Amino acid sequence: MKIDYEELMSTFAASLRPNAIRSLMPLLVRPDIISFGGGAPSSETLPIEELAEMASRVIRDRGRSVLQYGPTRGQPALVQEVALYLRSRGMKDATPSEIILTTGSQQGLDLVSRIVLDPGDVALVELPSYVGGTIALHNSGARLVGVQQDQDGMVISDLRERIDEVRAEGRRPKCIYTIPNFQNPSGITLAAERRQELVRVAEEQDLLIIEDDPYAELYFDDEASRLAPLASLCPSHVIYLGTFSKVLAPGLRTAWLRAPKEIAAKIETAKEGADLSSSQLDQALVYEALRTGLVESRLPMIREFYRTRCMAMTEALENHAASGTTWTRPRGGFFVLMETDRQIEATKLLPAAIEAGVAYVPGQPFFVDSSGANTFRLAFSKESPENIHTGIKALCDVIKRIG
Ligand SMILES: Cc1ncc(COP(=O)(O)O)c(C=O)c1O
Repeated sequence: MKIDYEELMSTFAASLRPNAIRSLMPLLVRPDIISFGGGAPSSETLPIEELAEMASRVIRDRGRSVLQYGPTRGQPALVQEVALYLRSRGMKDATPSEIILTTGSQQGLDLVSRIVLDPGDVALVELPSYVGGTIALHNSGARLVGVQQDQDGMVISDLRERIDEVRAEGRRPKCIYTIPNFQNPSGITLAAERRQELVRVAEEQDLLIIEDDPYAELYFDDEASRLAPLASLCPSHVIYLGTFSKVLAPGLRTAWLRAPKEIAAKIETAKEGADLSSSQLDQALVYEALRTGLVESRLPMIREFYRTRCMAMTEALENHAASGTTWTRPRGGFFVLMETDRQIEATKLLPAAIEAGVAYVPGQPFFVDSSGANTFRLAFSKESPENIHTGIKALCDVIKRIG
């Protein structure tokens, strides 16, 4: 007899949405095309030899503990390092009781969503926003409401209007999800004065801010390096997430979150049920990379690596983009968002672009209101500056020819 699996699965399973970006990945990683698709760090920035040496030393010397289960909150020495880092970023009173190490920030986003949101609650998110983040929020049954951004990040007057609308409908807005630095997918950075306004809204409206900050250390100018995390302005209303994925290696799946300690305690309990703890071995490697100064010493090189690629991309766009095309000017991170004339649809154009030897991610899945059909996420993290010039020219030629 044939089993009806649909019938056996939960309503949660039925509500799951695949990540539209990840399903494009096989197309985006073809070796014969220049890809602005994937948003991963360049493998050229991974300290392979150093980590190989550390891994063998750590396992030999401390195998009895690092190959074991460990505390749900994470290894105390690494938690302490994270607390020191957060204090250096202005979170003056950050203590280990507020910190949880997670299996990537992606797990942090999943746990936070489950702790904060009930089905039907409203989460306010940027237009556009990171798909992994909006999926985590959606999985908790939240309704996602988009807030406009301009070149300075979330538009606070629009945020206030959306909150008023939600309340007028009798719904409960619970949180604002934001990526304030060099956002994925737009590369936009939230301006200093907007940071103050945003935390004021959270305080006045009794909302939590989920501040997802994976690119914080990948800034290209001093001013961008000094922008205050929202969590330093108003720790009582902000859950802050950071990760070692972009400054060390995403394969180590080690990240952290800092939340008011009452929330952190609940997240710890939820994590216990999810995975007992994140990998002790991965955490030990990250700790070793911090202790020996490996992470710190490589940061200037990594920033320069991405800065030159970002410059190559914006220069190539200046040279080749069709009139009517606009793009963001990132001050850090991995991404430029390009916007064309309304009639051009990025999804429809993709086969022709791939045919011409260049790939990108259509922007629409990043917009929770399904706008953005004429936007293109262009990651400059993977390709060489030469390939970036070639690829942007090829893409702009396709747009001029077909668009
Ligand atoms: C905005 C944002 N948040 C979170 C993540 C997930 O990072 P992690 O590797 O720590 O899970 C990413 C990864 O690309 C991201 O761009």
